Amino acid sequence: MSDQFFTKEWERWCWTLEKLVIHGQKRLKGEVTVSGAKNAAVAILPAAILSDGHCTIENIPDILDISILKNILTNLGARIEHLNDSSIRIDTSKVNSYTATDKQIGNLRASYYLMGALLGRFKKAVVTFPGGCDFGVRPIDQHIKGFEALGAKVEIEHGKVIINANKLIGAPIYLDVVSVGATINIMLAAVKAEGITTIENPAKEPHIVDLANFLNAMGADIKGAGTDVIKIRGVRELKGGHVYTIIPDQIEAGTFMIAAAATRGDVLVKNIIPKHMESLTAKLMEMNVRVQEYDDSIRVSSKDKIQNVNIKTLPYPGFPTDLHPPVTALLCRAEGTSIITEGVWDNRFQYVDELKRMGAKIKVEGRMAVIDGSVRLTGAPIRALDLRAGAAMVIAGLMARGETTVSNIHYIDRGYEKLDEKLRALGADIQRIQE
Ligand code: EPZ
Repeated sequence: MSDQFFTKEWERWCWTLEKLVIHGQKRLKGEVTVSGAKNAAVAILPAAILSDGHCTIENIPDILDISILKNILTNLGARIEHLNDSSIRIDTSKVNSYTATDKQIGNLRASYYLMGALLGRFKKAVVTFPGGCDFGVRPIDQHIKGFEALGAKVEIEHGKVIINANKLIGAPIYLDVVSVGATINIMLAAVKAEGITTIENPAKEPHIVDLANFLNAMGADIKGAGTDVIKIRGVRELKGGHVYTIIPDQIEAGTFMIAAAATRGDVLVKNIIPKHMESLTAKLMEMNVRVQEYDDSIRVSSKDKIQNVNIKTLPYPGFPTDLHPPVTALLCRAEGTSIITEGVWDNRFQYVDELKRMGAKIKVEGRMAVIDGSVRLTGAPIRALDLRAGAAMVIAGLMARGETTVSNIHYIDRGYEKLDEKLRALGADIQRIQE
């Protein structure tokens, strides 16, 4: 598919002012298929830079963040051929720049993976300081700690991170904070370093393991991804030529499971890895929601009252922080009071004020939200303030009496593939309209 296709693809996201109009209280029924994992894909695409060959990547979600990333990689010299809606052949042999400072980089948090990938390939990287959702401070000190431990010099100037190394040498690295981003960036920088790198106290999310599998398929030597210690033996080169399929999106799957419970529905969520959903499944069952696990799908059905529960978000395998906003919407219909404690981000409660416009009774104190479940939500005009807050707004709209309009939906398109279409197929009354 030609570059015209690519430009058209980029332009199709162009910021037409759209909103979602939802008429609530319809039970979701039927089957939904989950797309590839955003947080794996945004790491795996830049990782392709580490081999100067080509590879085929399948099950890539069709979302805005990926279109931005493909655009950035093309500007660095990569050739991307679209094989179908969810697969590309990426050739990085002509990548000839270690400078990624396009304007759009600042909008995409995951652009920080270009630091590790470019450093791993060129021993140099100049990347715009990463942006992303506003959860309070989002430092990158652990990323820098890792790069410096491998022998790189890191400077931050004029909003850019400038990294230089004569050579990269494997080293033991202990992460002071369990960080997905830092774990992945150190893996990207260390796979071609001389000698052995160990990462202690790393993140264990499914996308960490998926990235390690992708790099190992290119000839890397990574052991222990998903455990408390990752061991990387540096190799001289990584080869392309393989086909890699990205894992299903844990957070998208969780969002549909929560939406099914929130609407007293009965939904089979397909193409997922049930093990990745264990913390959510446990909490839904505590809420008296029926959850049936199969090999690669989960059925969620709920007719009755929802029991109140307390939840603390934690790094994997704990309850994912990215399902915190959606599950809060659900708990607005629980019998009694529930408490959500945010264990990962400083400040992830901005969405609460939008739910209050719908009549929700939620009190936020520090990193805790106390949810009084006795209210019935009513439709209102609300805004998506970031990706997962957007999903919570949609779920609240599906639960509420009357009409809800959700604006700022480009946040939702950043990480959910065709969310409104998939919900409509489950019987939701949801329309995407131009403002
Ligand atoms: C990743 O963000 C995800 N983003 C986030 O998902 C997710 O919320 C987060 O991990 C936690 O699971 C992507 O994968 C692209 P972290 P990341 O580094 O890597 C602190 C979504 O909706 N920290 O694991 O930025 C940090 O402040 C997005 O898909 C440091 O102190 O998160 C936070 O409290 C939103 N120093 C904690 O660690 C550092 O150098 C976890 O952050 C790095 C992080």
